[in-house]
Amino acid sequence: MQLRDKKILLTGATGGIGNALAKTLHFLGAKLILAGRAPDAFKSLIAEICVNPASIAVAHLDLASPDVNEQALAISREHPDLDMIVNCAGMNLFSASASAPADEVSRLLDVNLKGTILLTQALLPTLMKRPQAAIVNVGSTFGSIGYPGFAAYCASKFGLRGYSEALRRELANSSVRVFYVAPRATATAMNDVAVQEMNAALGNAVDDPVAVAEQIVCAIARDRSKLFIGWPEKLFVFMNGMMSSVVDKALLKQLPVIQRFLLKEAKS
Ligand SMILES: NC(=O)c1ccc[n+]([C@@H]2O[C@H](COP(=O)([O-])OP(=O)(O)OC[C@H]3O[C@@H](n4cnc5c(N)ncnc54)[C@H](OP(=O)(O)O)[C@@H]3O)[C@@H](O)[C@H]2O)c1
Repeated sequence: MQLRDKKILLTGATGGIGNALAKTLHFLGAKLILAGRAPDAFKSLIAEICVNPASIAVAHLDLASPDVNEQALAISREHPDLDMIVNCAGMNLFSASASAPADEVSRLLDVNLKGTILLTQALLPTLMKRPQAAIVNVGSTFGSIGYPGFAAYCASKFGLRGYSEALRRELANSSVRVFYVAPRATATAMNDVAVQEMNAALGNAVDDPVAVAEQIVCAIARDRSKLFIGWPEKLFVFMNGMMSSVVDKALLKQLPVIQRFLLKEAKS
């Protein structure tokens, strides 16, 4: 799909992957609307990538707010020529399930799943009027592999993957394409010190957000509706679908290390 001159609403642009996505999409000639809780936070990013700050729009959007539908409708009124949404905003929670704070679990489900779905469906009528439109959902390897210590996050990303698949099939004979892209661990503020140390102890690869953004944009440009980033994560995703007991055994070996870092997280 051609990106030049497409009007794209991007969430999560104050974050690591979203920031890199904004730069790459702008470089390729897309017209950006950056949406987030504090639109002023986009000022430095806009100043960095663009000589004419007015050429990048900003919008207020809090995916955890009960008003997310109204916020989305305000965006569609202001931008009736919207061609694409990139749902990149998200939050993580590394915690043993028994001690996961209920309010954080609730907020995580609101941001990663409920708010993202409500935003998407509110903007869908606008997208369906465009000759070539797209919805890009940023999931995770943990949207295909249930991983200890990330139960609520996994639930949200499994949900987002299911939503993306159903929507892609529902819109298959429309002008709107649906993409689901699943990064593996990436070096951003989303992963706190305990998660970073755990990844190092387990030898898990951690990607650069710029490389992740480039792969996501490449998938859109090449009309690749599903992208799982990283090897051997791709293989584990496949194996978990076919023979989950093999992945059960591999994760059982990792469990003592994961539990060590869950304890460290709980104490911090
Ligand atoms: N980093 C990884 O290891 C990794 C791996 C796989 C998948 N992913 C996925 O990649 C995406 C981007 O992650 P990242 O690593 O770039 O995360 P990040 O650096 O922590 O950024 C998260 C972004 O989400 C926004 N956000 C959080 N709560 C929000 C809310 N209530 N309303 C609107 N925006 C909100 C944040 O905005 P504020 O500035 O307002 O907080 C920020 O822009 C996420 O969907 C994540 O699940 C990340």
